[in-house]
Amino acid sequence: MTMQRTRPNLPSNDKRWKLVNATMRRNGYADHALIETLHSVQDAFGFLDEEAMTFVADSLDLPLSKVFGVATFYHLFMLKPQGRHTCVVCTGTACYIKGADELIDSLAQRFGVQPGETTADEALSVMSARCVGACGLAPAVVIDSQVMGKLDGAQLIGKLEQTIAV
Ligand code: FES
Repeated sequence: MTMQRTRPNLPSNDKRWKLVNATMRRNGYADHALIETLHSVQDAFGFLDEEAMTFVADSLDLPLSKVFGVATFYHLFMLKPQGRHTCVVCTGTACYIKGADELIDSLAQRFGVQPGETTADEALSVMSARCVGACGLAPAVVIDSQVMGKLDGAQLIGKLEQTIAV
């Protein structure tokens, strides 16, 4: 008789973990799902951090070193950014239609960074993601793990200036 392995709990209530989990489930939690799963983490969060890699390793029953190895080997993957604060702009279809590119332009104008870059003072890293699981809030952004939506460029800059100031 085969024992059903217990899967780790999702790291938090953040809906983006469900997207990641769905990728693993679709692949029967097989270890060959690793690269696709890391892509889904990056699509949802904009980058990979230790929490995500630990969750994926535990879920797929792989050593953490293997997950780190794959994540660092492929230049397609973006590891946790350097900035003290992170702003992920969703550029998935729903958000794109609602003006995600305007948000990216506003960030570039105000902070001088494009997705994947960190400001020179390391206050802010800007990333993009393909769907953060909050399409009803389009255009969605995630500032330091907090999902927000329906902001225009000026409102987003205002929020970030407040965030950085504290
Ligand atoms: S497309 Fe942006 S949250 Fe889904």
